[in-house]
Amino acid sequence: MPIFGTRNASQKYCKPIQKLKKIAVFASGSGSNFQAIIDAATQGNLPAQLCGLVASRESIGALQRAAQHNIPSAIISRKHFTNESDFAQALLMQLELWGADIIVLAGYLTKIPPQVIAKYRGRILNIHPSLLPKYGGQGFFGRHVHEAVIANQESISGCTVHIVDEEFDRGPILAQAEVPVYPDDTPELLAARILKEEHRIYPKTITEFLT
Ligand code: GRF
Repeated sequence: MPIFGTRNASQKYCKPIQKLKKIAVFASGSGSNFQAIIDAATQGNLPAQLCGLVASRESIGALQRAAQHNIPSAIISRKHFTNESDFAQALLMQLELWGADIIVLAGYLTKIPPQVIAKYRGRILNIHPSLLPKYGGQGFFGRHVHEAVIANQESISGCTVHIVDEEFDRGPILAQAEVPVYPDDTPELLAARILKEEHRIYPKTITEFLT
């Protein structure tokens, strides 16, 4: 009779019980990447539990997505705090309440305070809509990225999943996907082409990171 859940290597049928890692997602916008992660989890393709959503402001699409899928959410906005340290403490308290193991940034536009990076070092992931290190750093967000790519007549762009450290868009790269840039592209067309790749590689990279 096999005893499930033990680590006795001599028992062929035994499989160690592993606690599912808990992911907290941070978002500032529509949350289409958040949705791709929810979908992966729902389809059993993400070995993790989505324990909560931190929204940087009210009325964002990501909050509706969380509600639709019974994922707890909290609106923790930098502007509600007089200093960064208090903001960091609020984030850390919420993460602790949820028991979050890793943080996944999905279109999150607020700078992560150093106290949070220190506590979750190597466990914060981000997706950026360019082939980093190109078109990353301060000021390169949203359509600004795609405008610069088109203005420079690049023939290839794409997206990057990376670990977050103290510098904007500079942490170790985990995965990238390329898309072509066409001569008659607009920032909107290019953004949509890249977003499709983001939805494909982000859940897959999170899964690889966790396993
Ligand atoms: C994506 O393009 C992502 O690369 C960037 O912010 C955007 C978020 O889009 N960091 P969404 O809210 O996931 O739709």
